[in-house]
Amino acid sequence: MSHSETAAVPAEVAKAVMNDPIELARQRLIVALDVPDARSAMRLVAELEGTCRWFKVGLELFVAAGPAVLEPIVARGHNVFLDLKLHDIPNTVAGAVRSAAGLGVRMLTVHAGGGPAMLAAAKNALAGVTNPPELLAVTVLTSMDADQLHAVGVDCMPSLQVETLAKMGIGAGIRGFVCSPQEVAAVRSLTGPEGVLVIPGIRPAGAALGDQKRVAGPAEALRLGASYLVVGRPITQAPNPVEAAKAILEEMAEAM
Ligand code: C5P
Repeated sequence: MSHSETAAVPAEVAKAVMNDPIELARQRLIVALDVPDARSAMRLVAELEGTCRWFKVGLELFVAAGPAVLEPIVARGHNVFLDLKLHDIPNTVAGAVRSAAGLGVRMLTVHAGGGPAMLAAAKNALAGVTNPPELLAVTVLTSMDADQLHAVGVDCMPSLQVETLAKMGIGAGIRGFVCSPQEVAAVRSLTGPEGVLVIPGIRPAGAALGDQKRVAGPAEALRLGASYLVVGRPITQAPNPVEAAKAILEEMAEAM
């Protein structure tokens, strides 16, 4: 991981963390808070905060509750990934990125499909920001397969389109990408170790796929080169979310 995550942590604490595989796994698991309101989100955060270090706020929660929903999560010391998947003209995206940069979040998404000018504008908007969020370009949504891509006029396999978008993003100065587990190895070979690869579409053995199409288990995604795993429903809709998160962390720790 390329973040200076432990920069402010005393050396002995950092050393203990480095020697604890579960803690290392915690630094790389992001729980998607896909819930309809702030109250449900905070209930999940309170339940999971002894177990998880990262929470993702996406469109459902952000549209319902606004930026204010981020404050208590950040204030409780958690890492927040703001997954707004911005996709608009460069000037508008740059403005939205500047607004988001003031919210205390650690990661922020834009759609790679917005093109190189939009990606460059998003990156430039963070120049000079202290502690900027990691800017991640979303390649092909993990819910899309070849048929869905064909329907939007892209006549190639998702894996090829992911590579095309990742190469374009790298050319625009982006080093963070969101892709499915099935493309992570190819994107890792393009970015090298500097790449921050954030991978949704994670399904532990036996978990329901829901709308996800290009999936893999937590251990496999890590082995293929993921920096971070994003897990939503397999944790948040489990009968016992803490136990579900712990099982994923154990699988991750073993694979690391
Ligand atoms: O519930 P589940 O584990 O499928 O949630 C995955 C999360 O990752 C969702 O919040 C979704 O918005 C997000 N995501 C995704 N595919 C992408 C980018 C983000 O599933 N390409």
